[in-house]
Amino acid sequence: MISTTSFPEHFLWGGAIAANQAEGAWNEDGRGPSINDALRHGIVNGVLNEAIDPNAYYPSHEAIDFYHRYKEDVALFAEMGFKCLRTSIAWSRIFPNGDEQQPNEAGLQFYDNLFDELLKHGIEPVITISHFETPLHLVREYGGWTNRKLVAFFTRYCEVIFKRYKSKVKYWMGFNEINHMHTIPLAAGGIELRNPERKLQDIYQASHHLFVASAAATKLLREIIPGARMGCMLSLSIIYPNSCHPDDVFETYELRRRSLFYSDVLLHGEYPRYAERIFREHGIELAIEPGDLELIRAYPADYIGFSYYRSTTHKAGMPILGNTGGIMGLDNPYLTKTSWGWPIDPKGLRYVCNEIYDRYRKPIFIVENGFGDKDEIGADGTIADDSRMQYLNQHLLELHQAIQDGCEIMGYTWWGPIDIVSAGTGEMNKRYGFIHVDKDNEGRGTLRRMKKKSFDWYRQIIATNGEIL
Ligand code: BG6
Repeated sequence: MISTTSFPEHFLWGGAIAANQAEGAWNEDGRGPSINDALRHGIVNGVLNEAIDPNAYYPSHEAIDFYHRYKEDVALFAEMGFKCLRTSIAWSRIFPNGDEQQPNEAGLQFYDNLFDELLKHGIEPVITISHFETPLHLVREYGGWTNRKLVAFFTRYCEVIFKRYKSKVKYWMGFNEINHMHTIPLAAGGIELRNPERKLQDIYQASHHLFVASAAATKLLREIIPGARMGCMLSLSIIYPNSCHPDDVFETYELRRRSLFYSDVLLHGEYPRYAERIFREHGIELAIEPGDLELIRAYPADYIGFSYYRSTTHKAGMPILGNTGGIMGLDNPYLTKTSWGWPIDPKGLRYVCNEIYDRYRKPIFIVENGFGDKDEIGADGTIADDSRMQYLNQHLLELHQAIQDGCEIMGYTWWGPIDIVSAGTGEMNKRYGFIHVDKDNEGRGTLRRMKKKSFDWYRQIIATNGEIL
């Protein structure tokens, strides 16, 4: 029988986590605090006003203790047959404040150990250089990415990690969900928008610095690790017009452009023409240094990584609210939702793949897709997470359709293959994993790992290269 759902040869099946949501050990071995370490309830509505309270519970401080338990976790990923693991390097483990001249050796050693462990199991590390975890000092003292100085700090950090992991890491990505600059700027750009009147000016100036830093990182990567690949990373959950009213359709298109602006610059290597109007109408004046635009043009990203969780709908004139996973808009009557209210829309993933491939003709990597839910532990101790399995199946079937449509897809990394701290809210009970971690929202639990029903299902999907779907 000819299979209908086989995926390409060498397809990068795996999972994705982020340092700050998994590692814990927030102040061990010389690590400095990053923004997450000062937030008790996640990054979406987080403000950094207070000092870190030594008596309070902060979810990132211990997270799931991946820092000490990575061997056990990597062995479980290997058992599922992972070809890759996407994780991030915690910038503040390497440069505790972000602005030092010399890196922290103990931090570098940790990632050596982690990458060695992955490679030992035949798992490629896919590395995000900055995943919503700007060193706190850079936000408090410099104003985050609004400050041009961060370009040099980031470039130094890149140079150190590229040289160090030259023989271990081939797949890199710059800034996680860079297009979240508009909706969750603290996460994406380490900036606190204190002055509403300067909001867009600050966002676009910080974005320019992120573009320059991304191009500088790509240039360094080419020099230091020839053949390695640098991706950009966006949150691209789709937004539909709420009706066929031309105003809804066009405003939705403009809203989509606000995201695609980031990939337009990072993949086409230049500011798009439509940006001129945005800058003009909002009185935005970018400080662009000589050589910036040439650098951006010369060093575009090699591939586009994106997260896809859900879809939403937009009506002309309505306020635009953001969250992890994308924009929060109006309900779509044709879709059901997760218990966290995220609409489930597998076909939207096929749509985005086609949209992006038509626009850029560059390889696509689905680096986040997942289903956050509570776990019910049965009397016999098992966790039957059939809804997660259904979400996974439906999205992979649509991804396969996208491949049939002609999209070039490098791989698929499920978000949170092991339960981790939620970026948005800091909850532990919003679980994405194929592996349960015994820990609750207040930080109680043994941290014991337990396979859910979906664990074996994902293992079979990978083992058959998708044919079992
Ligand atoms: C993405 C982020 O936006 O969404 C992840 O890159 C995050 O860091 C994921 O965890 C899911 O969001 P949440 O808020 O459910 O953790």
